Amino acid sequence: MIAPSQVKALAERALAHLAAGTTDQAPDVMRIPVEEYLDADVWRQEVELFRRVPLALALSVELPAPGTFKAMDVLDTPVLVSRGRDGAVRAFLNVCRHRGAQLCPVGTGSRHRFRCPYHAWVYDDRGDLVAVHKPGTFGDVDPAEHGLRRLPAVERYGIVWVRLAGDAPIDLADWLAGQEQDLAQLELGSWHLYEQRELSGPGWKVALDGYLENYHVQALHRTTFAPTNTSNLMVVDAFGPHQRILYPAKSIKDLREVPVAEWDAAAHCGTVYTLFPNVSLAGAWDGHAVLSQIYPGRTPAASRTVQTVLTREVPETEAERRFAKDFSELVRRGVFEEDYRTGADVQAALTSGANTHFLFGRNELALQHHHRWLRRMLTEHRGASTKP
Ligand code: FES
Ligand SMILES: [Fe+2]
Repeated sequence: MIAPSQVKALAERALAHLAAGTTDQAPDVMRIPVEEYLDADVWRQEVELFRRVPLALALSVELPAPGTFKAMDVLDTPVLVSRGRDGAVRAFLNVCRHRGAQLCPVGTGSRHRFRCPYHAWVYDDRGDLVAVHKPGTFGDVDPAEHGLRRLPAVERYGIVWVRLAGDAPIDLADWLAGQEQDLAQLELGSWHLYEQRELSGPGWKVALDGYLENYHVQALHRTTFAPTNTSNLMVVDAFGPHQRILYPAKSIKDLREVPVAEWDAAAHCGTVYTLFPNVSLAGAWDGHAVLSQIYPGRTPAASRTVQTVLTREVPETEAERRFAKDFSELVRRGVFEEDYRTGADVQAALTSGANTHFLFGRNELALQHHHRWLRRMLTEHRGASTKP
């Protein structure tokens, strides 16, 4: 999964690194206080930041037709995303305006009307209150004032962005800062959702940090990702807080023998698109991809990840089905049993006093970029929230 217009130039950069034994680098080693991974106030500010920025909450393919919906719990906020009869995606708080019951349980489904399980008030797929049960006995309710609470939402490039706080519309071009060209070329809206699972993990920053470098691939993923992927070779480009990280396959060396005009460079290039603050969209070189949405859990020490495996085509032959199944299991095992198990160890040792700081190497530049932006946005938010 890589934007076709970019792939040859990126592969050339990767091959130059491979020949020289180098990688893209930051100017210096960066230090982040361990305290920032433990402190409850810092964590609360981070959660608040999550609420104030557009989050990539759903894929268009999760809402494939008019009348489909997805209900989810995001940072303790019940969210309902629904595709109306008009095809437009809208997002609401999944909370009845009578006395606050949740309209649908977490999950996906298909319906044009949402009937509250508590006292049977009914809302349509635009969020409008269309029926109050036994209105003659209930008394006056103005339907215009009791529609579901809308959340700003935008669907584009096969992704649905929603913001949990504030009423202002999402300015997606401003938020994506140039990344939209790549996202458009991925045609994510036409991929097939193969499998989705939820993984519990360490604190959200410990969990996410592992997606932002491949320095660890050889040591940690010896039998999962290392047999096919290079380690410690990254080609990184930033779009505001978001990034595109090229992780070349070991097979990229074969391109040396082929004239550039004949390169099938995409076949040797895995890519990770990070959508700040919490999403990693990783595409392999064989028509399979994985979307990871990493959310803070209930405490600074816990996170939950929605891991979605996508295939370019619906697997139909026995061989395709087996390949998709194996890929999905490889991703689950590599992330859950290797990254997150190690992350849990890191998390558990944070209070040991061994380190006052984490060190992010010059070769871990995407990690540095993410943390620099996180700091910057937290600082701006602190400034904004102290203004009169
Ligand atoms: S809480 Fe929904 S109808 Fe009463
Ligand atoms: Fe990893």
